[in-house]
Amino acid sequence: MPILEFKNVSKIYDNVTKALEDINFTVEEGEFISIIGPSGAGKSTLLRCINRLIDASQGEIIFDGQDITHVKGKELRSIRTKTGMIFQHYNLVDRLSVIENVLHGTLGKKSTISGMFGHYTEDEKTRAFKILKELGLGEFVYKRCDELSGGQKQRVGIARAIMQQPKLILCDEPIASLDPKASKVIMDQLVSINKNKKITCIVNLHQVDVALRYSTRIIGVASGKIVYDGLPENLNQETIHKIYQSNANDLITDVSGGVHGER
Ligand SMILES: Nc1ncnc2c1ncn2[C@@H]1O[C@H](COP(=O)(O)OP(=O)(O)OP(=O)(O)O)[C@@H](O)[C@H]1O
Ligand SMILES: [Mg+2]
Repeated sequence: MPILEFKNVSKIYDNVTKALEDINFTVEEGEFISIIGPSGAGKSTLLRCINRLIDASQGEIIFDGQDITHVKGKELRSIRTKTGMIFQHYNLVDRLSVIENVLHGTLGKKSTISGMFGHYTEDEKTRAFKILKELGLGEFVYKRCDELSGGQKQRVGIARAIMQQPKLILCDEPIASLDPKASKVIMDQLVSINKNKKITCIVNLHQVDVALRYSTRIIGVASGKIVYDGLPENLNQETIHKIYQSNANDLITDVSGGVHGER
């Protein structure tokens, strides 16, 4: 059974802007998919339809065997728990410590009251420490998040997402604010989570070279439509040109060559 399915999904903002047009694709468990495309192509819209930060205007989204297109309340919260989200600007609570931010990842599963008072179980705390250690953040556990570098903040973001024990991790430009070295750490960690914890990942990326190096599959989006869906090795210059409507060579040399890694 696929983990995710888009069936004829369209999104129109304010009755005017067609951000997504008849999007169809299926994701199997364990895939590591990069979504690439120029600014305004609809990448964030697509990702946000999955955890319903945005509602699709038409079509159906099936996640983990359930039609989630219109679910509300408890069911919606359950979907949000099953999909961890990682953002370009980390979305951490800066004045709180690393461990507190990571424990926030459990909130979707608790009552509002126990979450509000920071009632976490011993098991949750142990798990949070373990995850932070695995991500190389053992020495930062009690640091305030505003004292961390961008790369460290993003690792906290990853830890918070894993804490949810999600089935799917959605990353919207996770390395767009990071230098090549920090970007490599983040991409390596995402791949390791994908492989070792068997969590499916969908990552929006601006860097074509990073997508080529790390993904099991690439989806190219242009003007709200899928123009490529396939293996990284089959993505040729002509298609890259079609996705970006520009010179593919410019793009390849334009992006940072510093993120060296592989699956
Ligand atoms: N909340 C919104 N209200 C109205 N229009 C929106 C909204 N969010 C996005 N759009 C429009 O929808 C289209 C797709 O935007 P989206 O943010 O999904 O693109 P993107 O591929 O993520 O771009 P970027 O690479 O710059 O992040 C754009 O034309 C954008 O202006
Ligand atoms: Mg975006």
